[in-house]
Amino acid sequence: MWLIGARGSVATTAVAGCAAVTAGLHPPTGMVTETPPFTDCGLPTLSSLVFGGHDVMECPLPKRAEQLAAGGVLPHGVPSAVGAELAAADAEIRTGGPRRGESDGRTDEELIASFAADLRDFVRRRGLARAVVVNVASTEPVPVEGEDRLPASSLYAAAALRAGCPYVNFTPSAGLHHPALAPVAASSGLPYAGRDGKTGQTLLRSVLGPMFAQRALAVRAWSGTNLLGGGDGAALADPAAAAAKNAGKERVLADTLGSAPEGEVHIDDVPSLGDWKTAWDHIAFDGFLGARMVLQTTWQGCDSALAAPLILDLARLLARAHERGLSGPLGELGFYFKDPDDGSSSALAEQYEALVGFASRLRGVGA
Ligand SMILES: NC(=O)c1ccc[n+]([C@@H]2O[C@H](COP(=O)([O-])OP(=O)(O)OC[C@H]3O[C@@H](n4cnc5c(N)ncnc54)[C@H](O)[C@@H]3O)[C@@H](O)[C@H]2O)c1
Repeated sequence: MWLIGARGSVATTAVAGCAAVTAGLHPPTGMVTETPPFTDCGLPTLSSLVFGGHDVMECPLPKRAEQLAAGGVLPHGVPSAVGAELAAADAEIRTGGPRRGESDGRTDEELIASFAADLRDFVRRRGLARAVVVNVASTEPVPVEGEDRLPASSLYAAAALRAGCPYVNFTPSAGLHHPALAPVAASSGLPYAGRDGKTGQTLLRSVLGPMFAQRALAVRAWSGTNLLGGGDGAALADPAAAAAKNAGKERVLADTLGSAPEGEVHIDDVPSLGDWKTAWDHIAFDGFLGARMVLQTTWQGCDSALAAPLILDLARLLARAHERGLSGPLGELGFYFKDPDDGSSSALAEQYEALVGFASRLRGVGA
């Protein structure tokens, strides 16, 4: 598993969590691939996963894990119990490319070639069957039309394809969705999935949206606010990055309700909250004879603890899909994303059904 943003909160929680579950220190709570529909579909075991990645930050993974434990994201004791696994992953982290707007003098082509070489080297040296590339780096602003350089997320995505690796975009950044990469993605013969993990507010929306539509209740307005800190909160304080995130959240409503209701989503950076997010939704709706009603929901989640099991799931599913020779966008994995591939449902129940069908496909049953 090759993580772009390998020293971030989500990546560190995934590496530490995988080791803790493998060692039997914690149950695999939140990992959908550990539930009965996924038994016997040939997924790689958690103990067989090997981690590496790219990041632009220096902080060693064991230290990052200690910071997360101090913030209550990882249980105390886990960083020391899995110190060897964290150190092993840290030794496989390579320095990534320049951040947006910065340049280290290399062209896009040179950067792609260098990232792809890092990936091939990882697979060869560690004797791996394959590497799945998962983007969990900081959210980038939406690319400006006519920009001559590819955003960093798209350089890594292009490198993944060049190295023959399946690719997952767990962020709202462009990644493989950049129009310049469409031809290479289409001809790569590789499976890929994305984008932007669905872990909190949008997860709830993908359940509640269909409920209002199926009960024929008229949603007048759906407004939301998110308070969070950590690296993600800081990145999303940039309105252009938040716009990329909010587009996915709003798409779920338009898809499940039939049209976008009035209302906006806001994201506020509150550094002292760290990884603990509060997401509040206010839904104004009409019932029979125009009776006016309101539903409010408050989600208080630990973002990395919600995301980490999902990226482990996705890496296992993509690895098996690659082994089975599947290629192209995996629409059946829309269950995991805010912005699933075109044509796939945005309603969680239908997405779950598609995911269970996908498990059968991985088993070799069905198309
Ligand atoms: N519940 C969730 O946590 C959740 C849900 C959906 C999406 N996401 C997305 O996952 C991503 C990671 O979230 P996080 O909380 O771990 O953030 P984080 O800030 O803790 O980690 C991001 C990491 O990316 C690295 N990075 C930044 N630019 C890079 C570049 N050009 N090359 C390589 N590495 C780079 C940073 O140094 C950092 O280590 C964010 O984009 C977030 O929006 C998270």
